[in-house]
Amino acid sequence: MERFVIKGGRRLEGEVSISGAKNAVVAIIPAVILADGPCVLENIPQISDVAISLRILYEMGADVKQLGKGVYRIDATTITDPIVPYELAKLMRASYYFLGTLLGKFKRARVSMPGGCYLGDRPIDQHLKAFSSLGAACTLENGMIDIYADSLIGSQIYFDKITVGATINAILAAVKATGLTVIENAAKEPHIVDLANFLNSMGADIMGAGTDVIKIRGVRHLKGTEYAVIPDQIEAGTYMVAAAATRGNVLVKNVIPKHLESITARLSKIGVNVEEFDDSVRISVDGPLVKTSVKTMPHPGFPTDMQPQISALLCLAEGTSIVTEEIFNNRFRYVDQLRRMGADISVEGRVAVIEGVGKLMGAPVTAPDLRAGAALVIAGLAASGITEIDDIYHIERGYENIESKLRALGADIVKKSVPGNSVRKVAL
Ligand code: EPZ
Repeated sequence: MERFVIKGGRRLEGEVSISGAKNAVVAIIPAVILADGPCVLENIPQISDVAISLRILYEMGADVKQLGKGVYRIDATTITDPIVPYELAKLMRASYYFLGTLLGKFKRARVSMPGGCYLGDRPIDQHLKAFSSLGAACTLENGMIDIYADSLIGSQIYFDKITVGATINAILAAVKATGLTVIENAAKEPHIVDLANFLNSMGADIMGAGTDVIKIRGVRHLKGTEYAVIPDQIEAGTYMVAAAATRGNVLVKNVIPKHLESITARLSKIGVNVEEFDDSVRISVDGPLVKTSVKTMPHPGFPTDMQPQISALLCLAEGTSIVTEEIFNNRFRYVDQLRRMGADISVEGRVAVIEGVGKLMGAPVTAPDLRAGAALVIAGLAASGITEIDDIYHIERGYENIESKLRALGADIVKKSVPGNSVRKVAL
């Protein structure tokens, strides 16, 4: 098992370059299956969710080659059996994107129920609703999802709630369906636009991605393509908050500022200086951090994936802050860990009330999930003393080289191996 050991209290200063977006890549890699030729993907982050996704393709029979740092050539035309290996699929939530892509290509798919971060209830009813609307029959037994369609016919899909995953799966299943599909109440996240741009570069006909109505005209063939994935808005936001929490001065490079608007707006309210350039933002803090209220919303609202991180920052702000988690019903599991560091937070259902404290103290803590782990890193960087974070495999699912990127900004952080069960590492 591995842990981060952080000696806190050092200002972060310098430059950090943001990697490719995890939540775009975990949809684009399965989407390669839809191509009738090889694809070359660029700006692919070296994180465990990517390793698992590539391994799934490899185990299914695809030819996967790394051509350079973050560059992969994938030829999935050799895949014939639309079944995803259970042992790999259960390791991450995004394995359910193989349902949509395999259904779209083969009209059949068999994938285990998804794994991933425990954030409360995470049903897949809207995914199955989308597949059924297109003409597929879905069954769920022994933890496996089986879907099958004689033919996929374009249809009207209205989501009962805004869901990123189901929006992505509906697009993957509909791109080769016969006729027009209209998805209403669609999610609008940047990674949905990125997937649509990737598929359109293969010859798909998708309009309206990034709005709440997406129209897809099915096509018979999708060709291989070359595509570079967008930068990760959540990784960028995480470093922006870390710079603010240590009252540092950091240039966060290789970002799309428009994707960061809600994060920038909230940080400015807290008293953080955010200077925007074409493809970077500079973070600095002059005066006191002040309380604010944050409510997570679907894009373009404040992202739920930034909720733990901003809460860690608000522990250091003057006054009482209110954080409301509108997307998931159990995304405050990190609060107990922050309390061990001296945070004063009370949680009632989906609302956390945070009383700002002057300082956090280092302590041994455990990462309960990916973004909660990032929040503990931020707290450890700002705290006085030593913070040891266990179960860092959660963090490494979504942050490429986080300890070397932080060390380059002046942080005192090392990764140590400790006795205990090691988590299965998946390599290509
Ligand atoms: C994606 O999860 C992301 N994961 C999550 O990021 C992110 O927090 C979430 O979108 C919201 O932005 C990936 O992209 C791999 P949802 P997903 O479907 O698709 C409910 C991270 O930290 N819902 O938008 O699972 C659901 O329970 C991860 O990178 C249904 O009710 O999220 C939730 O309350 C964590 N029925 C809400 O919708 C469904 O069929 C939003 O979920 C599907 C979802």
